Amino acid sequence: MDSELINIVKAQYKRTFGDRPLLVFSPGRINLIGEHTDYNNGFVMPAAIDKGIAMALSVSKESNSTIISKNFKETIELDINDKKLESNNHWSDYIRGVVLEFQKLVPVMPQIKAVIGSDLPIGAGMSSSAAILNAISFGLNLLFDLGLDKLELARLGRKAENKFVGVQSGLMDQFTGLFGKKEHLIILDCQSLDYKFIKWPFNGYSLILVDSMVRRDLKNSSFNQRKQNCSEVAGHFGKNSLRDLDMIQLDKRKNEIKEEKYRQARYVLNENQRVHDASKAIINAEMDTLGQLMIDSHHGLKNEYEVSCDQLDFLVESLIKHKGVKGARMMGGGFGGCTINLIKEDEIPGFQIEIQNKYQRRFGKTCHFYDVNLSDGTHQIIHS
Ligand code: GLA
Repeated sequence: MDSELINIVKAQYKRTFGDRPLLVFSPGRINLIGEHTDYNNGFVMPAAIDKGIAMALSVSKESNSTIISKNFKETIELDINDKKLESNNHWSDYIRGVVLEFQKLVPVMPQIKAVIGSDLPIGAGMSSSAAILNAISFGLNLLFDLGLDKLELARLGRKAENKFVGVQSGLMDQFTGLFGKKEHLIILDCQSLDYKFIKWPFNGYSLILVDSMVRRDLKNSSFNQRKQNCSEVAGHFGKNSLRDLDMIQLDKRKNEIKEEKYRQARYVLNENQRVHDASKAIINAEMDTLGQLMIDSHHGLKNEYEVSCDQLDFLVESLIKHKGVKGARMMGGGFGGCTINLIKEDEIPGFQIEIQNKYQRRFGKTCHFYDVNLSDGTHQIIHS
């Protein structure tokens, strides 16, 4: 958590509203392996990180709520009890979506005033969307003393994203943001919602993100189409989700479905298996095996699930040629954003310059590096 970000948000709140707010930090997330499996009731291996959204908020006596975004340099006004809030293809849709869900729980809510600041890049696959969903739902839950638990908040955020923002995401991002634990990865079964933590890091290895700087907006990508295709395949086999299908069953009747949908379903089944294999590799400290699983995951996302792009493929292929890099893959929804890379710590300085130069020569722009630490989930910050 970046205490400078919190101080900036706190200072702006004080200048604008004067009183003492409640302070919340809501992290972004990485995902080591298990991509596009969450909405198929499969397995994922994410972690909350030390980059995220800081929010200062309090109850307001005005007739409307005021929310200030430091990053967008914008102020939005809304009536928190307005049942007809509409989505505008704007960052504030995440707030309106959550507010509409809270209206179902609290008949009349007091208005609020808030300042939000972020050090998470938007559209980079680090789930700035879940960070804002979680910040606002966690904040309102505290402010109105509703006593909702973390799982209820995660589900509420997902509903807001699915129904109001229009992205048919799974639960991974909201869950990770809320349940994250310092220096741990989470292995989450998205069907039973059973989860366990795995300690990270390993001595001598780091997870570094390389940002292609290609920005995507999942609502306008083929993300929802992928989900639709997977549901159709599951339905064709009489299953509730791809989680209930195995490779033998899929292969036996593959001629009954379109080749493209077969490939996508196959990717999902293989990726679920890779999460199990990766978990074993981490426990046995087999970094070469873990790295290879990440590379296989990328190739599946590129060739079978088809959610990568030239820039991400170029980064992965360049990165894995470097001797210190054990594994690399695109991360998150895809179509742009970051790669996640497993790297030997003593090789980090050399690899950054080499990759940056190669990327600049090929695409005429600079890629960025983020060194992330695994961190606690959304929490209240106590005033110092
Ligand atoms: C986005 C969604 C998640 C998940 C990933 C892909 O981040 O919000 O629910 O589907 O893409 O793994």
